[in-house]
Amino acid sequence: MKTKVLKIDDKSLQIAKDYILNGEVVGFPTETVYGLGGIAYKDGAVKKIFDAKGRPQDNPLIVHVHDGYDVDKLVLVEYDYVYKLRKAFVPGPLTMVYKSKGVISPVATCGLDTVGIRVPKHEGAQRFLRAVDVPVAAPSANASKHTSPVTAMHVYEDLKGRVPLILDGGMCDGGIESTVLDVTTDTPIILRSGLITCEMIKKVVGRCEYSNNTAKDKVRAPGMKYQHYTPKCKTALFKRTEIEKAKAYYRDNAEKGLRVVYMCDDAISRNLDGSCLNLGKNANEIAHNLYDALHKAEGMADLLIAFDVNTGSDVDVGIMNRLEKACQRI
Ligand code: TXA
Ligand code: MG
Repeated sequence: MKTKVLKIDDKSLQIAKDYILNGEVVGFPTETVYGLGGIAYKDGAVKKIFDAKGRPQDNPLIVHVHDGYDVDKLVLVEYDYVYKLRKAFVPGPLTMVYKSKGVISPVATCGLDTVGIRVPKHEGAQRFLRAVDVPVAAPSANASKHTSPVTAMHVYEDLKGRVPLILDGGMCDGGIESTVLDVTTDTPIILRSGLITCEMIKKVVGRCEYSNNTAKDKVRAPGMKYQHYTPKCKTALFKRTEIEKAKAYYRDNAEKGLRVVYMCDDAISRNLDGSCLNLGKNANEIAHNLYDALHKAEGMADLLIAFDVNTGSDVDVGIMNRLEKACQRI
């Protein structure tokens, strides 16, 4: 199969619509990362998503709809705080996990009685979802376990030959995946951290908790148990207090002939010599640049030396969650 990469316009959206309504899958941008979408009602289309990614069959997909779509056709709202959350953060980088009405394909929900719904804010995503006007199941558009894509070229590199079309909407702003929030309990529970933080949710609802790793919560967040985000080069993750140790590690490996590159925030980068991917000064910049830097690292280095991020922002939780999974702690 030949994979087309097309800029988003009326013509490419018509092509995307034809593919989606015929049960094919299409890559598309959102404000977090690129998604790989298929019609969420059709088992066959959803199965194609799992096949293209090589994704484990027990990891459910998020369902995407355009702004204004009547989400209550798909899910049951059990707590009134959901309406406050919708008002504050939808559309945006928030996925809410609701009790399902059973309309979505069980292949997408992996047979769970819940379903995650997201309304992306990205203009290209909105245009795509409006054009197709059906719920679109979409995980991040990477090969399973690999770093999530934040450009159309990242999607192309992972999925070329496996999907017919990728809509190109430039580089994603947000850079890390949406916050996944369980809204089936009296206190909303964060299953995956992201740019909508626990503090932000507390301000709106009055309460919010992180999922802990009890057996029950492992079932709640099936995706969190898998290896994720790993670049193709070797990795080594250091604490911020371990700069000298990291420098020695850099020297030792460079002397062995390996191409080594650092990846860290701006504050740490000032203490280092040698090749460095600078993620930026604040948490939003760092989130925006993180996956792009991981993609760049695998193209230019045999070994990536990364440092913990600590900007004092609540967004650090989501960044560190990705970094811990992408890189090997030394
Ligand atoms: O920003 C994002 O969320 C991107 C864009 C494309 O929207 N999508 C994304 O999808 O990151 P994916 O499949 O890579 O991650 C979805 C996460 C997984 O950890 C999955 O286990 C969890 O959401 N999830 C989906 N449905 C769930 C459900 N019903 N209950 C609990 N967790 C769920
Ligand atoms: Mg993913």
